[in-house]
Amino acid sequence: MILFILVTIATALPAVRGDDAFNPIPVVPYPQFAKMLSTDRIGINSARFRISPPDELKHDDIMVSAAIRYNNYFSRFQGRSHEDGIDTVKITVHDPTAEQEISGTNESYSLMITPPSTVVTLNAATRVGVLRGLETLYQLYNVTDGKFPAVNIEDSPRFAFRGLMIDTSRHFLDLELIFKVIEAMSMNKLNILHWHIVDDPSFPYESYSFPDLAAKGAYDQDHMYSQADIAKVIEYARIHGVVVLPEFDTPGHTLSWGKGAPGLLAHCPGRGTFGSDYGPIDPTVDNNYKFLERLMSEVAAVFGTGYFHLGGDEVSFYCWAGNPNITDYMKKHNITDHTALESYYEEKLLNIVEGLGQSYIVWEEVFNNGLKIKPDTIIHVWKGKWQNTLSKAVKAGYRTILSSPWYLNYISFGRDWKNYYSVEPYSIDATPEELKMIQGGEACVWGEFVDNTNVLSRTFPRASAVAERLWSSKGQVDIADAEFRLDKHRCGMCARGIPAETVLTRGFCSIEYEMF
Ligand SMILES: *[C@@H]1O[C@H](CO)[C@@H](O)[C@H](O)[C@H]1NC(C)=O
Ligand SMILES: *[C@@H]1O[C@H](CO)[C@@H](O)[C@H](O)[C@H]1NC(C)=O
Ligand SMILES: *[C@@H]1O[C@H](CO)[C@@H](O)[C@H](O)[C@H]1NC(C)=O
Ligand SMILES: *[C@@H]1O[C@H](CO)[C@@H](O)[C@H](O)[C@H]1NC(C)=O
Repeated sequence: MILFILVTIATALPAVRGDDAFNPIPVVPYPQFAKMLSTDRIGINSARFRISPPDELKHDDIMVSAAIRYNNYFSRFQGRSHEDGIDTVKITVHDPTAEQEISGTNESYSLMITPPSTVVTLNAATRVGVLRGLETLYQLYNVTDGKFPAVNIEDSPRFAFRGLMIDTSRHFLDLELIFKVIEAMSMNKLNILHWHIVDDPSFPYESYSFPDLAAKGAYDQDHMYSQADIAKVIEYARIHGVVVLPEFDTPGHTLSWGKGAPGLLAHCPGRGTFGSDYGPIDPTVDNNYKFLERLMSEVAAVFGTGYFHLGGDEVSFYCWAGNPNITDYMKKHNITDHTALESYYEEKLLNIVEGLGQSYIVWEEVFNNGLKIKPDTIIHVWKGKWQNTLSKAVKAGYRTILSSPWYLNYISFGRDWKNYYSVEPYSIDATPEELKMIQGGEACVWGEFVDNTNVLSRTFPRASAVAERLWSSKGQVDIADAEFRLDKHRCGMCARGIPAETVLTRGFCSIEYEMF
């Protein structure tokens, strides 16, 4: 009955849409500083409009492909050419050689649209900053009147780490879908693709050091990523201002590893998890550390970002407890309980990874269980009561990233993006100095109920709410304003081939998503 009334009211009201948002600067994530210069508006002179890289970056692949991409996006609006419209986007880059880093890149830019001048000015700190500025420019265009507002924007992210996690172990994602995810990340100024590439269900990463891992651990040979595939993903991401952070989660979540690496997992007939006779990696076997060193050294070379996500979550002790060899080993080495055994493992692993010159991120259990970790470890908070954990971790001097409130794989009826939007990472017990240890956060899309069919629509635009929280200023909290900007933005994604789901309960996009 209630539902019936809601539906009736909704259909009785006129259609609204984000395209007609009342905020004249309908950008997501909202810029740090944006000022309307006048009520003048200016169109595009389609015959002459061309985004070109600055001279000194004429042959730079990031700049050249960005120019092609955005020229292509704007070419959709050719039918609305204005004789006195914008013809030039003048780009300057302060530091044209800076590479994008997981630890942070200067992504700041400024953008000026000053009609009647037909030149848009985009000044950026780095090439990544140019990508951020071009995206803002695209979003400022109003498809209804075919014009831009007169604005001055000075923008830079609040947090350096703005991630999205995908899971390709529970369900495989085709390269084409991963590319689309990366494009959509770029449209939301998200900068880190956390690739949870392997886990219990399958091992799709084709290792050249250990080919059996995928040969036996992937679902089948059509569901693996070759080295060429991985290289394509890393390259596609780089061109779009995104860094790929690989996760090889151990010692738990490794059932699929065991098939291609005999002796790696603890053996415990009748005591393992998921109905298996095997458990987490056996930390008492020296050979296993040699295996890990070779695998991690390969992964470090392949991904080349200097950072690993090492997992470390949800380690079940049943299997370790069920293996008499492990019990003996513990006695011999004076290891008093299984938490201490886990610590023993993590310490060895972290030493290996550090020896490879890599920094690392771990899920919060590694910190919660009091394992010995290096001071530069980043703690990834994902469980409930995140304010407590975040507070404890920063007080202990660790850098942190937050995901607990942003598990996009949990779905519910209605506008759950508002919950993501309303999170304030600084709402914890910590001093201003300690708060600086919060590097940002990450939206996670776990793969239990997600594959090629729905990864894009389930992720976007809900991840856009997270993206705004991580980019925009702390004071950017107006839900009603965000809702219309988000709807316009999701239409902008649809127009560019991303099937981003609806935000408002009714309405339409001027350019709808086309499947073919
Ligand atoms: C876009 O243009 C239409 C038509 O002029 C106007 O109603 C709407 O408010 C504009 N939207 C923005 C965000 O300026
Ligand atoms: C980023 O670059 C801008 C412009 O080049 C500069 O003004 C700003 O201070 C830089 N920010 C940081 C944190 O280095
Ligand atoms: C314990 O170790 C011995 C000797 O290496 C081995 O033969 C046996 O299978 C192991 N037991 C279990 C349960 O792994
Ligand atoms: C074993 O560990 C306990 C607790 O840390 C310690 O008190 C004891 O001296 C250790 N014994 C040996 C033989 O190392």
